Amino acid sequence: MNVLIIYAHPNLHSFNRAILEVVEATLHERGHTTQVHDLYQMQFRCILDDEDLLRNWRGVLSDDVQREQEAVRWAQGLVLIYPIWWFGPPAILKGWIDRVFTRKFAFDINASGMQGLLTHERALILNTLGGDEAIYQKERWHELLVRPIAEGVLGACGVRNVGYQAFYQVLSVSRTERQAMLDKVRTLAAGF
Ligand SMILES: Cc1cc2nc3c(=O)[nH]c(=O)nc-3n(C[C@H](O)[C@H](O)[C@H](O)COP(=O)(O)O)c2cc1C
Repeated sequence: MNVLIIYAHPNLHSFNRAILEVVEATLHERGHTTQVHDLYQMQFRCILDDEDLLRNWRGVLSDDVQREQEAVRWAQGLVLIYPIWWFGPPAILKGWIDRVFTRKFAFDINASGMQGLLTHERALILNTLGGDEAIYQKERWHELLVRPIAEGVLGACGVRNVGYQAFYQVLSVSRTERQAMLDKVRTLAAGF
């Protein structure tokens, strides 16, 4: 399978980077082909501005958006790796979605509502958090992390088979616990 990995973390030595490395290596071991789009390294312009809206309306997309759409089209699988910042993805990833998932490309709207146009076989979302899982479960905050992206974005655009895994308290857990998290990442990527 061709797998596009969208990665959003600015620090080259972060735990998210370790997750990315495990995902890439595991997918290669399993015979998949990958492309990594490291949004910070690419300095992806992440603000959907008036010119973008006009371009979308006219159907003349900018070169950077076209390149991203080509990569999305190339893939049968998508992996999104990012830390949770204020209950959501870093702005650079939100902006990537805003600019790249345009009407007629990712979805369309007709009399019966919104139709997803993406045909990916599956997607996997991997998040890290500073927070405590027990509190997120008790307050049902975990739903605020997964549903907007898995249902509101990917599901709405036609990708139904979406796996999700959050890793909590990554800033404070022991080395052994972090290693167990990376082992879990390996298992998830191996099942892709
Ligand atoms: C701007 C910002 C916002 C954050 N918001 C949250 C949050 O809403 N919930 C949470 O549990 N952790 C939050 N954190 C903590 C990050 O999720 C945590 O630092 C990150 O997952 C650690 O992974 P890393 O070592 O790869 O950076 C936030 C961190 C930053 C910098």
